[in-house]
Amino acid sequence: MANQSAVNRTVESTKNKIKQRQARVGIIGLGYVGLPLALLFTEQKFLVTGFDIDQRKVDTLAQGGSYIYRIGADEIKAAKAQGFSATSDYAQLEEMDAVIICVPTPLNQYHEPDLSYITDTTHALAPHLQPGQLVILESTTYPGTTEEVLLPILEKENKQGLKAARSTSSRTPSANPRAEKEFFVAFSPEREDPGNTTVARCDIPKVVGGVNPQAAELAGALYGSIFHRIVPVSSPAAAEMTKLLENIYRCVNIALVNELKLLCLRMGIDIWEVIAAASTKPFGFHPFYPGPGLGGHCIPVDPFYLSWKAKEFDFRTRFIELAGEINNNMPYHVLASIGGALNQHKKSVNGARVLVLGVAYKRDIDDLRESPALTVIELLQHEGAQVSYHDPYFPFIGKGRKYDLQMKRTELDKLGEYDCIVIITDHSDYDYKKIVSEAQLVVDTRNATKGIDSPKVVRC
Ligand SMILES: NC(=O)c1ccc[n+]([C@@H]2O[C@H](COP(=O)([O-])OP(=O)(O)OC[C@H]3O[C@@H](n4cnc5c(N)ncnc54)[C@H](O)[C@@H]3O)[C@@H](O)[C@H]2O)c1
Repeated sequence: MANQSAVNRTVESTKNKIKQRQARVGIIGLGYVGLPLALLFTEQKFLVTGFDIDQRKVDTLAQGGSYIYRIGADEIKAAKAQGFSATSDYAQLEEMDAVIICVPTPLNQYHEPDLSYITDTTHALAPHLQPGQLVILESTTYPGTTEEVLLPILEKENKQGLKAARSTSSRTPSANPRAEKEFFVAFSPEREDPGNTTVARCDIPKVVGGVNPQAAELAGALYGSIFHRIVPVSSPAAAEMTKLLENIYRCVNIALVNELKLLCLRMGIDIWEVIAAASTKPFGFHPFYPGPGLGGHCIPVDPFYLSWKAKEFDFRTRFIELAGEINNNMPYHVLASIGGALNQHKKSVNGARVLVLGVAYKRDIDDLRESPALTVIELLQHEGAQVSYHDPYFPFIGKGRKYDLQMKRTELDKLGEYDCIVIITDHSDYDYKKIVSEAQLVVDTRNATKGIDSPKVVRC
């Protein structure tokens, strides 16, 4: 029992530190997820240190600047005044009571999980691990990652022989004879919806799964200080699977409306009118909307983490595969629609001047990752079109993981000179009436021109 008391003392002491705002929080990965989280903890009076390997980000933050559009430099300056700092020096992790990992989880070229960011981070963290420290993974990943990948590296590579707390109940003795040499591990998925201003971040319930009850308790206490509702689940794997279920649900439903849109186009029915009508049902229906294809770091990527893992269990995730096939085909449908629309004007894609409006993966955000606009641009260029683009958030499109476009934003004038304007992202900044009135031809993939009755508009 003595060992278990040692663990409980550690848990109680860390909980007290959290309550008194004396717990130090380290956030690894200061991107779209990690930086807002760091600011949220800072707002709640925690002393936060952010860690990133991207020195430009660290330097920008050190100078009180921001590299994320929706986070103003004033917010960074205010956080700095509260003690927030950023560093690339992992040794500072030793001073943290809790470490939250928010690094990328992309797919590799074979469409398989690329866990290298998580493993690199864990290898770098392990030598600095301290007894009693709480380590939480937030990156979206397949069920099992926390316990099968992160935890073994931490146990093997830390310098003090520390083991993860694994006791199944706070009343049963710890399996580890040196309980005071334990650390705590949990998984808690990020659920942010970029650009969504209807739900405050602190109002999004936070799902938490600990390796053991004390890890869950500590993670719940930490997040409970910034989120209004904590949803404990029985294990990290259950929490990992929860996040994937949410994103697969979205991916599959978007594929469903994308497929029905293709049918509606053939039948001469307006899918948008149908979705609006179906949405009036007060129960059992949630609207999803068709578009030019999936984008962002989550929906096109995360489901395939599960389909990869499922193979280990000799299981095929057919919904995921089918949804992927339909959604991946949408940029090709857009290309065909542009070709068809130009054909009506006795023109071909080859040689046409095409303006792509909006390249972010969704409206009013500054995120290009996996954006279908990039695929549409590449397809148009491949067919010989002269492509220009405009997006209020991107003055330049350089090189990403899957593209290398090197394009500069064009001015939003002389719209009549383009053979075709393609609306890929329906940013609210655009005056669609004016665009339609000046354009020769508009192909609209988002219903942005709703209510504008013009023969120049082709909705696809
Ligand atoms: N962006 C979203 O809306 C969103 C929503 C929910 C979940 N997620 C998940 O959250 C995770 C992070 O996504 P993101 O959008 O913040 O990614 P991001 O690319 O914006 O940020 C990740 C940051 O991690 C840094 N990094 C990479 N390796 C590192 C290392 N070894 N040590 C320190 N820093 C390192 C990068 O430099 C980058 O700044 C992903 O798993 C993603 O699926 C993202």
